[in-house]
Amino acid sequence: MTAGPDDGERVAPTKRGLSRRALLLGAAGGGLAVGAAAGVGGATIARAVQGGDEEIIDLTRSFPFYDQAHQAGIQTPPQRYTVFMTFDLASDSRQDLQVLLARWSGAIAQLMAGRTIGQVQPARADAVAPDTGEALDLAPAGLTVTVGLGPGVFDHRFGLASRRPAHLRPLPELPSDKLQDGLSGGDLSIQACADDPQVAYHAVRDLARMAQPTASTRWTVLGFGRASAGTGQKTPRNLLGFKDGTRNIVEESDFQRFVWVDDDVAWTRGGSYQVVRKIQMNIENWDSDAIGDQQKVFGRGKVEGEPLTGRAEHDTPDFAKKNAQGELVIPDTSHVALAAHENNGGVKILRRGYNYTDGINQFGLLDAGLLFVSYQNDPAHFVTLQSRLGRSDRLNEYISHIGSGLFFVPPAPRRGGYLAEKLF
Ligand code: HEM
Repeated sequence: MTAGPDDGERVAPTKRGLSRRALLLGAAGGGLAVGAAAGVGGATIARAVQGGDEEIIDLTRSFPFYDQAHQAGIQTPPQRYTVFMTFDLASDSRQDLQVLLARWSGAIAQLMAGRTIGQVQPARADAVAPDTGEALDLAPAGLTVTVGLGPGVFDHRFGLASRRPAHLRPLPELPSDKLQDGLSGGDLSIQACADDPQVAYHAVRDLARMAQPTASTRWTVLGFGRASAGTGQKTPRNLLGFKDGTRNIVEESDFQRFVWVDDDVAWTRGGSYQVVRKIQMNIENWDSDAIGDQQKVFGRGKVEGEPLTGRAEHDTPDFAKKNAQGELVIPDTSHVALAAHENNGGVKILRRGYNYTDGINQFGLLDAGLLFVSYQNDPAHFVTLQSRLGRSDRLNEYISHIGSGLFFVPPAPRRGGYLAEKLF
């Protein structure tokens, strides 16, 4: 599909634009909208205008990999798409693990800069190309690749048990868990996020290929649905139609306090723990639920996202307020009442999830949900929240936690070094 500034929208003179209408046409035509934007003769800006609100995706945007305090993809404003994949280590050689992390680091630096990881067309016709080529004509699209180390890296195999990050133990069984082995665990994780799904997929595909034979793929989720962030950004919606992310960590001081590890083990400082949950939604049940009930499930209004005790989305919820019948206006079993920091000893986590769909299940029902991803400096914070939610959240009628993983995300490497280098 080609698109240009020809449908009445105002666009910057030097950039080619794509209106919301064109985006939707792109999607209906079988293509993914932002990918279509990137493919238009080097067009790099996708733009959506609706009701006077404007959202701009700059596909030329790129993030640095080396010499940062933290890996990108955590504090980075959420891009629109993600590909999350975990891996099992097949080798028990510490050196193989080091080589893999070093090779991944070099490749990720190239990918995030919008480059290929080697030749797509080697000079010799009998040579295998290091880069598979499907992102060749695409812009960096804000790609971030975030690598995590699972508990298995610190088991008996690699002699690293004494170097285990303080809180990296498999998560305990939590109330309402319906975890499937094939959607859980892993020794390594890769979270690739980008504003073009093909850019994110290419990155994970080529890193998975590079991991052979040291590590093999275990489970994966393709996610979508986040708006690009920025001043005046609108809160994105989950597949239950509610704004998701209204009360999240945004202040730098909260990142320092709740997200980044700051202990005396040098190699972990500036890292974070990544909790991943694949949460399936019973979409048809939810869609047949009355709006009043849906709002009580979350404790918020559906259209504006306001707390049931307030008017505007960012009003502070009043968890003690009662109605004329003496009932709490925000039910104490609503999702936000159970998860709010006010009701959990001040605990906060950074949520950075995406919607996902796996199509249609064996019963002909929509198979979709939330790839919940949270970052925190102690996974116990997630466990505290999910223990309460799993026991009494009204939302449990409509969701199932089917996949789970816990990984330690080391800090970013310095130029010339590689991920987790100081671990070895
Ligand atoms: C499919 C599963 C889930 C859905 C659809 C969902 C949806 C939502 C929505 C709509 C909100 C209100 C808007 C906001 O403040 O962002 C919210 C808030 C929140 N959720 Fe979830 N959520 C899910 C799972 C979880 C899980 C597993 C956790 C953590 C264990 C969690 C933790 C939180 C927290 C901490 C808040 C902010 C509460 C506040 O301070 O008011 N959510 N969620």
